[in-house]
Parts: sequence; C-alpha cells; structure tokens
Amino acid sequence: MAPDWWKSAVVYQVYPRSFQDSDGDGIGDLPGIRRRLDHLERLGVDVVWLSPVYRSPHADNGYDISDYRDIDPQFGTLDDLDALLADLHARGMKLVMDLVVNHSSDEHPWFVESRSSRDSPKRDWYWWRPARPGREPGTPGAEPTNWESFFSGPTWAYDEATGEYYLHLFDRKQPDLNWENPEVREAVYEMMRWWFDRGVDGFRMDVINLISKDLALLDGVIAPGRTLGDGSPHDIGGPRLHEFLQEMHREVFAGRTGLITVGETPGVTLEEAVLFTDPARREVDMVFQFEHVGLDHGPDTKFRSRRLQPGELAESLTRWQDALADVGWNSLYFANHDQPRSVSRFGDDSPVHRRSSATALATVLHLQRGTPYVYQGEELGMTNSPFAAIDDYRDLESLNWYAESLAAGAVAEDSLWGLAAVSRDNARTPVQWDDSPEAGFTSGTPWIAVNPNSAEINAAAQYDDPSSVFSMHRALIALRHELPVVAHGTFRRVDAGDPAVFAFERALDDDRLLVVVNLSSEPRAVRLEASETERWSSASVLLANLADASASAWADLRPWEAKVLRA
Ligand code: GLC
Repeated sequence: MAPDWWKSAVVYQVYPRSFQDSDGDGIGDLPGIRRRLDHLERLGVDVVWLSPVYRSPHADNGYDISDYRDIDPQFGTLDDLDALLADLHARGMKLVMDLVVNHSSDEHPWFVESRSSRDSPKRDWYWWRPARPGREPGTPGAEPTNWESFFSGPTWAYDEATGEYYLHLFDRKQPDLNWENPEVREAVYEMMRWWFDRGVDGFRMDVINLISKDLALLDGVIAPGRTLGDGSPHDIGGPRLHEFLQEMHREVFAGRTGLITVGETPGVTLEEAVLFTDPARREVDMVFQFEHVGLDHGPDTKFRSRRLQPGELAESLTRWQDALADVGWNSLYFANHDQPRSVSRFGDDSPVHRRSSATALATVLHLQRGTPYVYQGEELGMTNSPFAAIDDYRDLESLNWYAESLAAGAVAEDSLWGLAAVSRDNARTPVQWDDSPEAGFTSGTPWIAVNPNSAEINAAAQYDDPSSVFSMHRALIALRHELPVVAHGTFRRVDAGDPAVFAFERALDDDRLLVVVNLSSEPRAVRLEASETERWSSASVLLANLADASASAWADLRPWEAKVLRA
C-alpha cells in the first residue's frame, strides 16, 4: 500500500451516540454501527473515523475520557470494538479512533491521583497553579490567568482540598494534561501503541495544537464586550508543539504502515499547516483547519453569526488549496459534530433548494485536492434542527453560552435564535435512516430529538433515487477512486466572472476536469475568459447535479447547479 494511500481515500465520521442504537436505550452504540455497514459500503467510503467511544462521564459526550483503554458501557465493550474493526477490515475499510489527549476527564485515575495532594507523584501530570499573587484563593479574579474557556467562564478551577487551581481550556471536567512532563507523553504513546497493536488504522487528534502551552502563562487581551481574556496566543501552537508531534511520530508511528493521522488544529494558519503536514517533517498526514468554518462567526462569539457573502467560501477554500499545493495536504470538510449542518449553513435548506445545494456542496467537497471527510447525515442532506426551547438542547457549550448570555442581559429569544443557527446539537440529532417514528435510529426514546423532517429526508428514500444527495456523494466518491486526477491532480481556480460561481480546474498529465458550481440560490451568468472558453470548448459533462446540464463551460448556471466537465 502506497504511503500516501489516503490521498485517494474518503473518510466518513461516525458520531456514535447518534448513529444507530441497538438496545433501545436511545443512545447509539457499537453493535448499532455494525448493523449499518452496508450503508457505508454502498456509499463507498474507505475509512471510518469514530468519535470517542472510550469510558467517560460524558460531560462533553465522550471528549472527556476516564479510561483510554476501555469502551464506555453505553457504547458496548472492547469485544464489540474488535468485532467492528474486523467487520470493517473484512469490507476493505479502515478504522480511525479519536485521540483526546490535550485533556482527560477529571474522573480519570491520573487526575484523581493528581488532585489528591500537592505531593502526589502525578501532581505535575496536569497544570496546577497557585492563586494570582495577592489574591485570596478561590475568590473571583484570583485565577492564575484571566483566560476564558472555550465553553464559557474561566479556564481555571479552584480545588479547595489542595488550595490550588487546575487548568481546563474546555469544561472543568476536562483538565489539561501537562505535556511538559515526559511521563505524560510516554503514557499517551504507550496507549496509542496499544490501540495500533489491536489493529486500528489511525487517529484523529483532538485539538492537538493545544498540547504545548507557553510556560509564562500570561494574561490574555480582553476583547470588547468580554470580561475574560483570550488565552489563545499562549495556549494554541505553543513552543514545543512540533517537537512533541515529531516525538510522537518516532515513538508511535515509526515502522508502522498503512495508517492515517489527522490533527484537529483550531486557529491554524496556512504557514503552520504546511509545517504540520510536510511529509519530510514527520508530524501528521493532514490537519483540520478552521478558516472556512469561522467565516460566519460574529465578532465576539460564534453564536451571533452572519450569512456569508457570495464568494467568501470559495475564496477561503482557494487560499487553502493554493497554500498546500506543493508541500503538505488538505483535509476537506464542511461538517462535523462541532458544526451546524452544512446544507443549512453554506447551502440553502429551503424545500426548493435543499437537494441541489447539498449536492452542489458535495461536488466542491469531493473534487478539491485533499482528503474529503463526510460527516454522518451529510450524505443525506440532513439539515439543522428546528430546536425551539432551551430544553431541546443537550450540548454543554450551547447551554453554558445561553446561561452566560442571559446573565449578561441578552433577550432570551435572541440567544435562542443564535443557538438555532450555530449549536453543535444541530449535527448531533440522530441519523435519519427511514420514515419510521424515530427514523430507524432507536426503538426507545432518543437522547436528543430526531429532526421532524425525517419522514422526508432519510436514507431509505435515497438509495434508489439517482438524483438524491446520497447518490451524488456516492458518484463523487467513485470518481475519486476511478480518476487519478481527482486524488492527485493540481488545483487552479478559474475566474467565472461572478464571485458566487466557484470554478476550478483539476489537472494531471493530459487529464483535465473543470468543476463549475453556482454557490447561490439565484441563476448566475458564467463569463469565462476567452482562453478558458477555448480550453474547454470540446469538453463533455462527466457529472452534474441537475438534469440536462449543458456541456458548454460558459453556459449560465441554475441556482446551486454544479457540473463537472472533462476536456
Ligand atoms: C474538539 C472536539 C469537540 C470537543 C473539544 C474538547 O474540538 O471536536 O467536540 O468538545 O475538542 O475535547
């Protein structure tokens, strides 16, 4: 197997809690995933990335791990995991596990030991600090720094018993591990090797660019409208980050083949992404960058979002395509368990445009240079959920922000509106398998409500419909497998004379594709330069999302029309 086999692979993300329940408790589980492998095989994906299934108190739905080497009983057992792995391998698919090692759960034995006393041999496994000099420990403002947590409130929790604070960039139940301590690193590497010995094929590394912090632990700047400081210059992309990743590579990956690694790197710049993914540096194969999923964020919180202007998305994607053209590799995604549904956010989920915008986005997703990641339900065009009341939400990030916004004087209706557009729970409603009452997800009561549009939007209704969102994803995935130009070709943005039209060329040797996509709900005129018109004059339509697509590259586009021409 070629070392860069993942360039022609497509990854499918499973969020286990919401994929398929098998025992009626309303929570998806490993045996449930095993039942749905036909779906994945039919879609044609190569790799399954499983969000965390480890033992966890589930403060953050499993991103707070209390045992890295066991499966949470909610999801099943280690035997179930082994069985899933064997099933996937038998069908020619690989399994990627989520690696959440910036922090553990506060219920992990490491942390329980660490917090037990200031002299604990594991004290230094986490970030313990005394109160700010001159302040009474445990009082407001006495935190060692003014940093604001990703999940609202200070990043420091006071521990009465030992009179010190521990750092948690996320929830207080997610204490940050201290990667400065070599014992911590070795414990993580040993655990990773243990999973590889079990047969897994890679890791998606949760917020991996947060593992190295600037030891000075300086206060952050307080933005207008906020009361706490921005710690990110001090805790993202810290001074030893690349050293740690290279060490991990040596300790865990050296000598193993056929694996795939992807680092989740919020705030990563183009220049850093090249460093992370330059194969010569031996860090990770690719990273998830966040530029395009931050474009619509409000100035002080993502929950006050705005609609994108025509062209903004395409411009951002092009920047990343260009930056990693020669060295490094992109991962391509529009959706995951932390983002609203892509069709509702970047497309148009109204009944007229839902199918065409979901398939237009799919065309862009799959045909760029990079490895595409499909998030469960995205292949069905699943939409945001019509959550109406705060009780409909489950995610702690949403609940915390809502409470904080009301405390700061916001009108409840406005905050609910903000949540509805952006909440991570939009992505976490159960997969819509069929038109039965709970969409085929569970025989019990689902942990979060099924989207009421499941009678209409569901997998069963799409398999045999050649015009469905599912069929389009399937065709695009097949194209990547069939045509080397899709996996390995160069990318060049083509000026289509209208910012709402995203046109690009993929080329490899003599093979050339032109992808033309109208990323708007209005008809758009295409105006190619004369040289391009000439270049594509005898092209034919390879794939299109609307019936009767014109083969002329310069023909005007219908709303959300996408077509792929081959020279
Ligand atoms: C990552 C995960 C997210 C989680 C956070 C803390 O961003 O994708 O779901 O809440 O890290 O682990």
